[in-house]
Amino acid sequence: MTPHRVIVDCDPGQDDFINLMLMAGAPEVFDVVAVTAVAGNVGLALTANNARLACDWAGWATVPVYAGCAAPLMRGLATAEHVHGTTGVEGLPPAEPATPLEETHAVTALIHCLRGETAPITIIATGPLTNIATALIMAPDITDRIAQIVLMGGARAAGGNITPSAEFNMAVDPHAAARVADSSIPLVVFGLDVTHQLCMTPERRARIRAINQPVATVVADMLDASARRLPAGASHDGPPLHDPCTALYLIAPELFELSSCALAVETDSPLTYGHTSVDLHGVTERSPNARWATAIDAPAAFLHIEDRLARLT
Ligand code: RIB
Ligand code: CA
Repeated sequence: MTPHRVIVDCDPGQDDFINLMLMAGAPEVFDVVAVTAVAGNVGLALTANNARLACDWAGWATVPVYAGCAAPLMRGLATAEHVHGTTGVEGLPPAEPATPLEETHAVTALIHCLRGETAPITIIATGPLTNIATALIMAPDITDRIAQIVLMGGARAAGGNITPSAEFNMAVDPHAAARVADSSIPLVVFGLDVTHQLCMTPERRARIRAINQPVATVVADMLDASARRLPAGASHDGPPLHDPCTALYLIAPELFELSSCALAVETDSPLTYGHTSVDLHGVTERSPNARWATAIDAPAAFLHIEDRLARLT
């Protein structure tokens, strides 16, 4: 199997961090070109720091980390310390990252990396899409250098998690999301409809902890911290694993059911900005532009999570 050459754009974030650990546990699946950080769960200084720490824990000694946009295209930055803690990776022991931060801005790096590739590559996006949209605006020629964008964001039947009608990544930067949705780049989208099916129950968290290796232990610590922050009466029986659906898809696509859809993002309504209109049945005039994940085999997915984490010592 030829590994997927990927750039990961993320806003670590506990689940972004776990996504990177799954990728580190699957070196035969991923050839990581770069990690780019964007403001989202926490401010850019922290997401960049956390991306560097993730590369340390992943054992990625040569993967460059770039800091990108500190704010959305048009809106003010909204963050999610209430979910991820003040560091963004609550449960991870504080440390000074060994992985350096590159001086080049992530948007410049995205453009340069993509132009330098001999064939189109995959972008994994697990935060607000500000960096990617900005790169597309600055250098439209990179559109053809992107084979697909595998992203976590949006919601259809599940409703919103930051507003009643919008998922966090889409709501933080709806204008960027709309630009990516209109880009003609093949999109594979993992929204709350599917990520809410992959909850880290106490039993699953205990099984991760029982791996008894440093990376698995820190993942269990982050998941336990996340579980403590779940709102009282939350319908989930444990924190949903949002971003790791992207790595799981590239590791084992058979875990998911996906449907073609016409995806559009609301940008202007003060009530519904960031809402993803997901037309699965062709009831609009819009052409299909994405594949939308509707289901996951959660028990099988968890076995993959266990397996990949257990490979990291
Ligand atoms: O809504 C969940 C998404 O928002 C995840 O990517 C999480 O890390 C936050 O960025
Ligand atoms: Ca994220």
